[in-house]
Amino acid sequence: MSQEKETHQENKGTFYITTPIYYPSGKLHIGHTYTTVASDVMSRFKREMGYDVTFLTGTDEHGEKIQSTAKAQGMEPKAYVDQMVEDIKKIWESMEISYDIFIRTTDDIHKKGVQKIFQQLYDKGDIYKDEYEGWYCTPCESFWTETQLEEGHKCPDCRREAHITREEAYFFKLSKYQEPLMDYYEKHPEICLPESRKNEMLNNFLKPGLEDLCVSRTSFDWGIPVPFDEKHVIYVWLDALSNYITALGYGSEENPKAYHQYWPADVHLMAKEIVRFHTIIWPAMLMALELPLPKKVFGHGWILFGEDKMSKSKGNIVYPEPFIKRYGIDALKYFLLREFTFGQDGNFTNTLFLQRYNSDLANDLGNLVSRTVAMIEQYNEGIVPTEKQKEALDDELKTLAVSTADQVETLIDDLQFHEALESIWKIVRRSNKYIDETTPWILAKDENQKDRLDTVLKNLAESIRIVSILIKSFMGHTAAEIQQQLGLQESSESMTWEDAKIFDKIPAGTKVKKGEALFKRLKIEQEAKELAADNDAYAQKIQQASGGSKETKAVEEKTEEKEEQAEEKEEITIDDFAKIDLRVALVKEAEKHPKADRLLVLQLQVGEETRQVVSGIAQDYQPEDLVGKTVIYLQNLKPIKLRGIKSQGMIMAAEGDGKLGLLTVDKALPDGSSVS
Ligand code: MSP
Repeated sequence: MSQEKETHQENKGTFYITTPIYYPSGKLHIGHTYTTVASDVMSRFKREMGYDVTFLTGTDEHGEKIQSTAKAQGMEPKAYVDQMVEDIKKIWESMEISYDIFIRTTDDIHKKGVQKIFQQLYDKGDIYKDEYEGWYCTPCESFWTETQLEEGHKCPDCRREAHITREEAYFFKLSKYQEPLMDYYEKHPEICLPESRKNEMLNNFLKPGLEDLCVSRTSFDWGIPVPFDEKHVIYVWLDALSNYITALGYGSEENPKAYHQYWPADVHLMAKEIVRFHTIIWPAMLMALELPLPKKVFGHGWILFGEDKMSKSKGNIVYPEPFIKRYGIDALKYFLLREFTFGQDGNFTNTLFLQRYNSDLANDLGNLVSRTVAMIEQYNEGIVPTEKQKEALDDELKTLAVSTADQVETLIDDLQFHEALESIWKIVRRSNKYIDETTPWILAKDENQKDRLDTVLKNLAESIRIVSILIKSFMGHTAAEIQQQLGLQESSESMTWEDAKIFDKIPAGTKVKKGEALFKRLKIEQEAKELAADNDAYAQKIQQASGGSKETKAVEEKTEEKEEQAEEKEEITIDDFAKIDLRVALVKEAEKHPKADRLLVLQLQVGEETRQVVSGIAQDYQPEDLVGKTVIYLQNLKPIKLRGIKSQGMIMAAEGDGKLGLLTVDKALPDGSSVS
């Protein structure tokens, strides 16, 4: 849906905002809606402020997951994604998402661009060929080092079993960009927001050191081929991240005008789980391509359901459609952006939605508008009066109303949508209080109070006009409906953002026109039942439409990337613990791994035996510091090869504040002693 660029003010320059490109492997839910609605509001707001906005969204269509999901449905991958993408576009259409570009990673413009990028990095020497052997998590499409794995062989992102894969592969020299990235973070703190996520990136990833990244696969073929070595397809994240520039024509055209106009992006928006890709891998790729970095990357929190991440296997997915159908898009957008603090996790419940609908929308805003319009009709024949007899009380309302636009502007720029809405609602609530304080129905009984009554009604109408301007980017329909009831037209002169900073703007003689209630008050208990039933029926419909076969379900469950991410590890029994064979070991020799800066190769004495362990502790320990040290060693871990060198078991280390500390015993005990 290409959006007409409406600009009410002189052009302030360009503004480029992006959502993640979503996997079309399942129906999008309220979580995806959240990021997209936030980006939409930001885009609409910036257009309103006079920026030339490009809002990008799209779909990330390659990879093993999509390939196997398609196969489980008996479809070719392209036919499968085509159908899924149609559905995604329909959701965005029904929510009136004002995107300017919808990029699909199967689009030619994107494929050409990605191949060009890969070639450029290869020619520069930042991509090289090597052999990879390591732990791979299929749902997350990520390779992990042994030290990154959790509970033995589990992926640290989704905690599913990772498995060892060996393949010839191309690598991106991510390690080369560790220092430049840290420098960049220092000078441009907005590269990773909020602050807490930046610290997480610095402490957990950048400071401990980056390893080169495997950027090609040969184990499946649903992807963009490496241009000079067609048996490899390009790693999905390299493919996906590039969309932000290929969508503007980078790499597929000689002089892509849009690229030069809009890049670097003003904001990349996403949830926290993919911040690492956007603030480490993507900036490093751009540095390697010698291109400017995005100005702001913001990772918001997760919408949880009953404290859990939403997932199909848990059957707790909330879809936007039933909400839109019952309450309209404005109510849903308002709830998402008002209820949750952008940046933090929040819990979604139907009851919270219904309560906020009743209190903020039906009671506060809806009542204010209907009472005011009704009183103007009843007491002044529908004509908005002029101001006559002022009182000190009026100033508080006026000052609040005209000072809010600037606050809202700053808050939206800082992506604090919930606070922006809260500050608008302060005017709404103050206006309702003003009605109670001035009691227009009593003034109306006294002929001598007509001037005062006129002033009160005029002030209320002006406050509501200001509110309608301020909410427009969030709730376009409601804004238009309010303006219509006030007898104003959206396009009229009193309706620009600047007009929200001036109180006296409604032209003399304007006639109000009472309409339907903006939001009908709900009976929460009854409504909650009906809503839950609608949600269930909808979820069932989705389930049936997606095949619902055992096979599909199995693939979906397996491939439901990151969605099952448990924050806490599950409880284990003493029998589980007994499976772990921990020993005291003595480090006899230690040396650097010839192929990986983060790894050391240790020879351990464990009782009678000598064991070789490859360990990712090189950032914190020099080989010479280790020789003669007593360490704790996990003996019965399945051996693997790490960058070509065999590793039998692992040594234990604690991690905190970005540092590693090796575990040891506090008495001299013989090596081989068991730990329990
Ligand atoms: N394809 C990758 C992104 C590539 S971007 C170059 C991907 N896709 S995804 O379909 O899994 O979408 C993840 C994004 O969807 C999150 O980062 C977030 O924007 C949104 N959300 C999905 N579930 C969400 C919640 N439960 N809560 C909040 N946002 C969520 O990752």
